Amino acid sequence: MTPYLTYRKADLHLEGVSLAVLAARFGTPLYVYSRSELIDRYQGLKEADAKDRAIVCYSVKANSNLAILRTFRELGAGFDVTSAGELFLALKTAQTEAGGARCPLVFSGAGKTRSEIEFALRNDILMINAESEAELDVIEQTAAAIGRRAPISFRVNPNVDPKTHPYIATGLKKHKFGVPWKRALPLYRKAQGMPHVQVVGISCHIGSQMVTLAPVQDALRRVLDLVHELGKGGIRIQYVDAGGGLGIRYRKEAPPSPALYIQTLLQGLISKDLKLIVEPGRSLVGNSGVLLTRALYRKENEGKRFVIVDAAMTDLIRPTLYDAHHEILPVRKQARGTEKVDVVGPVCESGDFIARDRRLPRVEANDLLAVLSAGAYGYAMSSNYNGRLRPAEVMVEEDRVEIIRPRQTFEALL
Ligand code: LLP
Repeated sequence: MTPYLTYRKADLHLEGVSLAVLAARFGTPLYVYSRSELIDRYQGLKEADAKDRAIVCYSVKANSNLAILRTFRELGAGFDVTSAGELFLALKTAQTEAGGARCPLVFSGAGKTRSEIEFALRNDILMINAESEAELDVIEQTAAAIGRRAPISFRVNPNVDPKTHPYIATGLKKHKFGVPWKRALPLYRKAQGMPHVQVVGISCHIGSQMVTLAPVQDALRRVLDLVHELGKGGIRIQYVDAGGGLGIRYRKEAPPSPALYIQTLLQGLISKDLKLIVEPGRSLVGNSGVLLTRALYRKENEGKRFVIVDAAMTDLIRPTLYDAHHEILPVRKQARGTEKVDVVGPVCESGDFIARDRRLPRVEANDLLAVLSAGAYGYAMSSNYNGRLRPAEVMVEEDRVEIIRPRQTFEALL
């Protein structure tokens, strides 16, 4: 939870702005983000990097709102993109029409198409993280066809358990991601011999919402061994991309601070010639956002109590998909007793819930609730299922309010 979320008297505020006022002005469901929290989180990462050895490429998939991307860009970040669409958004952050100075761009993703690769090459990508031999071949062919040299790394799969939810673990043998450890050396040799490919890095992302550093350290150690091996074979690596994955506090987790995270990674990087790339998503945006929702009805089915709200799995799918816990606070504190309820949305699925068996101060129809830590993988994973319109997004900073994406209208459904 962000320190910028506070009760002033009985009313919940994000920074200096009353959430009840925002709900009245923009309607619900509504995503609201604190810009100061975004800035603090980014600076928290960078403060441990006095020598500027780490390139922070914000992972666009966590939240791709242009205002959020621009905030990070202004602070000096580059971007980790996973599709041509995300690359398009990252390029849109350039300040001037001429495009402005380029920022570092890294292209990850388990299945890049030829046209995506071409788009990336034409836009001076820093590094394409290849995930298979077949993809390497396509990168070489695409680069040859347009007369470019593609800077690449291999995403290697270190077979390290990140100790997180199975759906967001990615670095084990059974996962589709990366090239198998044993194949890395021969693949690098092959790439080294290709005329339109230039080996520049190595990358590794083992999972998301990690709350201990040990798995990251293990993976990095393995990656650095490989860098050493490659060096012996005359293959020089410039960038070590450690991926994203630093966790946040949703409930009682106590993840390491961003500063400690970066420090630990940098310490591992003994050779001065190596630059570190990190691709944080959740740890930068997760706690900056809340999802505001209004209670529509109360309902009781044979002793089980439901609060039906106007937000649904279409707005925040994390509870449904990962059984994720998001704290819920009343937007107006009232002296009411607590009760155990399921907070559910209007979608025709039993899996449509925001919280189950949650003890909350009694919620009446029309009350507003704030669902916390919804800044990452909230709006980004929203959908139009059940003909529902995607919510609006608002950014606040001190007492300033900016609508950064309007609520969809029916036209979006056509
Ligand atoms: N880099 C790569 C290659 C990734 O696959 C990911 C996330 C990131 C960076 C950013 O990871 P972060 O710092 O945000 O943990 N929808 C899930 C999370 C999926 C993460 C996918 N990859 C959730 O809501 O928990």
